[in-house]
Amino acid sequence: MKNKLSKISFLFNPKVISGIKKASLILLLLMPAISLFSQSRKEILLTDGWKFFKGANEIAYRKDFSDKTWKSVSVPHDWAIEGPFDKEIDKQMVAIEQNGESKPSEKTGRTGALPYIGEAWYRNTFRLPASAKDKRIILQFDGAMSEPKVYLNGIKVGEWNYGYNYFYIDVTDQILTGESNILAVHLKNRPKSSRWYPGAGLYRNVHIIIKEKQSIEQWGVSITTPIVSEAFAKVNIKTNITTAGAKLVTEILDRAGKVVAVDTAKTFFGTQADQNIKIQNPGLWSPETPNLYTAVSRLYNGNNLLDEVTTRFGVREISYLAGTGFSLNGKVRKFKGVCLHHDLGPLGTAINIAALRRQLMILKDMGCDAIRSSHNMPSLEQLELCDELGFMFLAETFDEWAKPKVENGYHLFFDTDAEKDIVNLIKATKNHPSIVMWSAGNEVPDQFGAEGVKRAKWLQEIFHREDPTRPVTVGMDQVKATMASGFGALLDIPGLNYRVHLYDEAYKAFPQGMLLGSETASTVSSRGIYKFPVLKGKNKTYDDFQSSSYDFECCDWSNLPDDDFVMQDDKPWVIGEFVWTGFDYLGEPTPYDESWPSRSSYFGMCDLAGIPKDRYYLYRSRWNKDKPTLHMLPHWNWEGREGQITPVFVYTSYDSAELFLNGKSLGIQKKNNSSPQNRYRLMWTDVKYEPGTLKIVAYDKNGTAVAEETKTTAGKPYRIVLDADRKELTADGKDISFITASVVDKNGNPCPTTTQRLNFEVKGAGAFKAVCNGDATSLEMFDKPTMKLFSGKLVILVQSGKIPGDIILKVKGSSLKEGELTLTSQK
Ligand code: GAL
Repeated sequence: MKNKLSKISFLFNPKVISGIKKASLILLLLMPAISLFSQSRKEILLTDGWKFFKGANEIAYRKDFSDKTWKSVSVPHDWAIEGPFDKEIDKQMVAIEQNGESKPSEKTGRTGALPYIGEAWYRNTFRLPASAKDKRIILQFDGAMSEPKVYLNGIKVGEWNYGYNYFYIDVTDQILTGESNILAVHLKNRPKSSRWYPGAGLYRNVHIIIKEKQSIEQWGVSITTPIVSEAFAKVNIKTNITTAGAKLVTEILDRAGKVVAVDTAKTFFGTQADQNIKIQNPGLWSPETPNLYTAVSRLYNGNNLLDEVTTRFGVREISYLAGTGFSLNGKVRKFKGVCLHHDLGPLGTAINIAALRRQLMILKDMGCDAIRSSHNMPSLEQLELCDELGFMFLAETFDEWAKPKVENGYHLFFDTDAEKDIVNLIKATKNHPSIVMWSAGNEVPDQFGAEGVKRAKWLQEIFHREDPTRPVTVGMDQVKATMASGFGALLDIPGLNYRVHLYDEAYKAFPQGMLLGSETASTVSSRGIYKFPVLKGKNKTYDDFQSSSYDFECCDWSNLPDDDFVMQDDKPWVIGEFVWTGFDYLGEPTPYDESWPSRSSYFGMCDLAGIPKDRYYLYRSRWNKDKPTLHMLPHWNWEGREGQITPVFVYTSYDSAELFLNGKSLGIQKKNNSSPQNRYRLMWTDVKYEPGTLKIVAYDKNGTAVAEETKTTAGKPYRIVLDADRKELTADGKDISFITASVVDKNGNPCPTTTQRLNFEVKGAGAFKAVCNGDATSLEMFDKPTMKLFSGKLVILVQSGKIPGDIILKVKGSSLKEGELTLTSQK
């Protein structure tokens, strides 16, 4: 649920809120002295004016403490992303049992080798007007890494252990009105507390909510659509209010802002109103048609407006049935999903809407329709975007229950916190139509033993109690153990992580009549890097700490994408897959866990900079049904490999294609069932390299040539080319344009092997924010305006300022013609 007038929906879908008052946007500009107008409820993002200190301090919570020498930062903020990378940070002598290791060895880049460990403080001074005296005041944190302890005016007002969760604190009794308040937050990240880069700091938003004493509870509106048909939908709205005796009127607006229903609550059960409202001819929500409605709940005392809460929701029906599997709005479909960690590459974990939206747009073009937030609560912004852009969501909670994977992981808090963590996840996110399933955990070691079965039951029942509308899964890797113990049988949906060889057996053993590929593939590759000879292999490593983009390499617990495709295509009872992963992420540099300087993952379909690897196109060729795919690999700059076997693979939605090298046909290949790879890829395995032009011509079913692509051996690097994902930015100090820089020769051919250093300069109404080249072994820092190209490319992030105007980016490299690009930034 969003309280009235979310900034996010304003940015993305102005229509949704047209007709609704825009006062809270204005409020943002008035910080830190907050004025109240005559509104019933205000919500303020506490973005600016923060002071930050990295380290322990016994008295920083006190009101009279001076933070003058502390660094000024804005929130969201990740204190560790500036680095530097250091192999000693969180070095772990461990055997990763989950990966089948039995002997401890030194793992250097496991959590990203960034300085996230330790204590830190944030302080903010703000004023509420005297007129806020009789109001109810709430502080909401969307996530704080980690173990936040919150002090207001020197008094501890709340704490929360899990860094990934949302929580709020009612500070009505501690807040001062008409004078300054000092908010201080203490955070602590323990060493060996994660299997990936968790980030550090107030990395998500902090809100102040000001409302009447008699008002709608925080996260107090729950909207479901128990009956959905083309003709009408029944919308059930339960609204919790703080004290009984008020009148509740709910208005439903369609996406154009038109009122389609109005209802005055007739039935109250104590302090909960229960409304059932009919919408005629509803526009249904789906990934293809992300229709959204808005419910405006107004609470009155007589004619006096006490509160107003705006909640976006979708009308959609989900069902999971043995035999048919998953259906959305009555149509059977399979999840074409990816797993995502929460970091945003060079931005670290600090939430940024432009970066999240870019990720989703890249995935959308691949044909992806679902996201799994591995292995924790997603950001509220990501869910908003998934609602708007059309992605289904598997919202996960934990990577550990009571049994540890890492020394200081969530098991420290499981017994005391698991229930309240699940409750907050559901209360804060339940109205998002994108969420279609919950996950109670990922590969928890509790899969072994009777206690684990009890824990699974306990957790699942909490989910059912809080949300009877969505099923619960757990990503299971110990499939045999969970078959034997009853763990897998009790879940609503059995989720299998990898283990394609056990799918048939598990389907027979489990009583649900369906399986989910909750995690699949874990194939590894480095963008633009190809290794010879081209052979399939598990846990393969090379001297340069890169993995081959022929997509033949995976881990010994995982498999190649094509093996999953067979399951997805041939087994009606498999309800989809969530591929590990959509994007590379910081930490977990498998298969180079022991190889410094590897510090980020190789699993992504896109690299850490968000640039698609070849594998992206393999999935696109299956998943994107609207646009054809014809993608050829490797690049064709192999000086020194003349005459040597250099296989050519083509990932395409077409059935067959013909390959030409310097005009000579190397034959037609057609997809066939002789092996999973031959079924999904076209492969010319005996091509001998000679410089020149490779051309692929695709044929339709009648043998007519319908599309072609070429790759030409490039000459010397000559000119820098810049390509922005968006040239028009919002002048809000947050928006970001992602500009891919590459190098071409005199004839415009991309130079795919160039590793030349580039330097960046930004002038005008914006600033250089970060850079990333996608090289998992690079120790160059993201926030310095210089970096070497990796496989001929890198991505520059340019951020808007708060004042509108042109932003000019110049990119230079020695003996290269420079690149220049102008962006515009507007209010
Ligand atoms: C899975 C695990 C993921 C990641 C992946 C790498 O077992 O759930 O978090 O570690 O392996 O292959």
